[in-house]
Amino acid sequence: MHTISSPGESACHRPVLAAHAMQIGARNILELGALHGDTTLPLLLGAYYSDGHVHTVDMTPSKFNPPAMLKARWHMHQGEAHMFLRNLPAHVIFDLVWLDDEHSYEHVVTELQALAPHLHRDSIVLLHDTAVGVEHEEVDLVQSDGGSPHHQRVAVHVNFFELPYVSMSRSDCGVLRAVRELPVESWEHVTVTACYGATMLRKKDAPRREQKLLVVDADGYMV
Ligand SMILES: C[S@@+](CC[C@H](N)C(=O)[O-])C[C@H]1O[C@@H](n2cnc3c(N)ncnc32)[C@H](O)[C@@H]1O
Repeated sequence: MHTISSPGESACHRPVLAAHAMQIGARNILELGALHGDTTLPLLLGAYYSDGHVHTVDMTPSKFNPPAMLKARWHMHQGEAHMFLRNLPAHVIFDLVWLDDEHSYEHVVTELQALAPHLHRDSIVLLHDTAVGVEHEEVDLVQSDGGSPHHQRVAVHVNFFELPYVSMSRSDCGVLRAVRELPVESWEHVTVTACYGATMLRKKDAPRREQKLLVVDADGYMV
């Protein structure tokens, strides 16, 4: 499995996840990659306010135990994400997607292709680890009026792949590349650089929203 950050790093995006879910009134939420459930909880909180549900997909069984008031809104699908997306009924449409599973370029490209028919025009796909080329650095700023230089912490763009401490798994992060290569006629996106980045992605040529809540059977599968 190729991933770039510890759970702590994606956990820093928790407010963003809950806020998006609430702001757009997301009722059908998909989480790809859950690990310990650090990001499942804020999605569930958002779903609570929108009277929605969260479908989480992960290859590994989750030990996450949602609070009692949120339990009925959570549906864990243990399995491979591509397989899950391929088997989705055509009418299933998601309002919000948190994409934080396998980070290789090929995986993310295939995932976005498979997701596209399950989005409406105002759906938001949030992707983690899209600002891996942004680092913070202490620099001396020289003042133009000749005043004494002062120290400041600034964001600088670095060639991520040349950093000495970059491990194999980090250099294999392909989320950013997959997003950048999306055709601009169909997709638009913006990235917040904190905590290795979260990108908000929208398929602007997708059909208008059909406000239908997904129906799930007793095992949590969408019917
Ligand atoms: C970075 S962790 C998710 C972190 C989580 N969003 C959080 O902040 O706590 C990545 C997760 O993706 C899962 N995963 C990796 N590749 C996958 C795949 N192809 N299909 C489904 N799950 C996958 C791993 O089992 C792991 O739990």
